[in-house]
Amino acid sequence: MTTNAIRRIGVLTAGGDCPGLNAVIRAVTKTAILRHGIEVVGIEDGFIGLVDDRVRPLSFRDVSGILTRGGTILGSNNRCNPRHHPTGVNPDGSVVFSDVTPRCLATIRRHGIDALIVIGGDGTMAAAASLVAAGVNIIGIPKTIDNDLVGTEISFGFLTAVATATDALDRLHSTADSHHRVIVCEVMGRNAGWIALTAGVASGSDMVLMPEIPYDEENIARFIDQRMRGPGFAIVVVAEGATPRGGKQVVARMDPLSPDPIRLGGIGERVAEVIASLTAVEVRTTVLGHIVRGGTPVAADRILATNFGFHAIHTLMQGARGRLVVRDNNLYTDIDLLASAGKQRRVPLGHPLITAARAIGTSFGDRPTGIDPASEPSTIC
Ligand code: F6P
Repeated sequence: MTTNAIRRIGVLTAGGDCPGLNAVIRAVTKTAILRHGIEVVGIEDGFIGLVDDRVRPLSFRDVSGILTRGGTILGSNNRCNPRHHPTGVNPDGSVVFSDVTPRCLATIRRHGIDALIVIGGDGTMAAAASLVAAGVNIIGIPKTIDNDLVGTEISFGFLTAVATATDALDRLHSTADSHHRVIVCEVMGRNAGWIALTAGVASGSDMVLMPEIPYDEENIARFIDQRMRGPGFAIVVVAEGATPRGGKQVVARMDPLSPDPIRLGGIGERVAEVIASLTAVEVRTTVLGHIVRGGTPVAADRILATNFGFHAIHTLMQGARGRLVVRDNNLYTDIDLLASAGKQRRVPLGHPLITAARAIGTSFGDRPTGIDPASEPSTIC
């Protein structure tokens, strides 16, 4: 398919929602219509809209006024991979999965869609693979609060999640201080600690537990004891994927219909139990959960989303096929769409923010900080 052949594009949002999806839909649609005179159709609820033929036109007017709105006007779904789609139930109650790629292709043909703009994370890009293999031109846009997509230094949605988590941690700070308590706050992030680390540092949390740095229970207890003898309260931010050294992640539930069925959750309460049993401190737990996925995108996410949307159409109209637009060293570029499919980018252990956090006495629960909060009360946040 040449660039000239592109008359109509489809756009879909898949995977867990995040702030900024509407800002991307708006940028994609406005750029396509205004710059290139291309028609745009929206596909509802991710790939399921292709399977079920739920496609609707997107006009300039449809996308006006949605920049600041959370969620996605198209709907999303983190249960659909066209190659492995639930199509029935066996007599024993187990789900029958089938490859429904042909149904997706039929919808694409029926609506005269020349290329798809797919907004999603690693699971979405993996799900796109069967369509790419079948010859569909897809340009991907990286989306996830988890910030764990390989190939891009940032995904939109992440900075809003960090801002929301930071605000919550700030609020927990004052109540923990008033009651001389430890408050453990669990945040999302799947197998990566980007949200916990970034919000932890932004809020001046005392301890950050993240999957990349397995924690040691004795170390946590020692740190909390010191903290209580000094400032007299502590804020512990825990990524949902964090693990004790030699231990396993805590799984909240399995979602058998999802291509990535594990749903993490519950580690915050485990850490609180450890602190309560090894120290004489009063502990409370807060789980932020889906709160960090909702609401208005912060300004930086609106900018990212607008740039990604514009670059996706620009890349498509340059004649590219099967590419993911990414940001690399503050520049927008593109990589092979499948390069980040099904992979996760975790926080490198030498990340500068970890180094800076350790330097100011933040504990990661893995070893003594070398700073005694009990003897330095005036210097501890
Ligand atoms: O990938 C985004 C994310 O919010 C993760 O941080 C979290 O582990 C997961 O999705 C939750 O999924 P669900 O919305 O299906 O509960």
